[in-house]
Amino acid sequence: VLYLVLKAFHVTALTVWMAGMIVVPLLLTRPPAPGRERDPTTLAALRGFATRVTSPAMLATLGLGLWLAQDAGWFRASWLQLKLVLVLILTGLHGVVAGQSRRLVAEPGMPASALLRAVPWLTLACLAGIALLAIVKPGLW
Ligand code: HEM
Repeated sequence: VLYLVLKAFHVTALTVWMAGMIVVPLLLTRPPAPGRERDPTTLAALRGFATRVTSPAMLATLGLGLWLAQDAGWFRASWLQLKLVLVLILTGLHGVVAGQSRRLVAEPGMPASALLRAVPWLTLACLAGIALLAIVKPGLW
């Protein structure tokens, strides 16, 4: 039962993390109105959301996932090994959002990077792959 409860929290945490990884870069890269700079209050709020909500959700997702995998002995399973590669990419993309949001708060006039604009779609692609692997559990090797 504990395993299932922790799995429920794993899914809750990853939902919050993924929501942040999709919404925050979308709003950060929204072009300002013509002739205006981005609103510093909005940028600071988005940065605050990333540090106070998205980052803890990421840590919870990873911690709970590692606990589940250790508990059930999944580390030798190919689906989990491939999933961990995609998780590593997501963690890197999270770093992109954290770094770019910090830079945009410091310098609201700076153009948003093309990579930051791509983050929501790359996140969706990784999430789809991870969900397929974690739920179908294909035996790949
Ligand atoms: C350190 C990273 C992670 C590890 C070690 C890990 C490990 C696990 C394990 C062991 C399970 C349970 C499998 C089962 O009992 O059927 C699971 C389920 C799942 N994980 Fe992760 N996970 C990690 C990160 C993530 C991330 C980042 C996402 C999505 C963005 C994710 C999405 C899922 C999904 C969708 C399930 C399926 C839940 C279900 O079967 O109902 N995991 N994970």
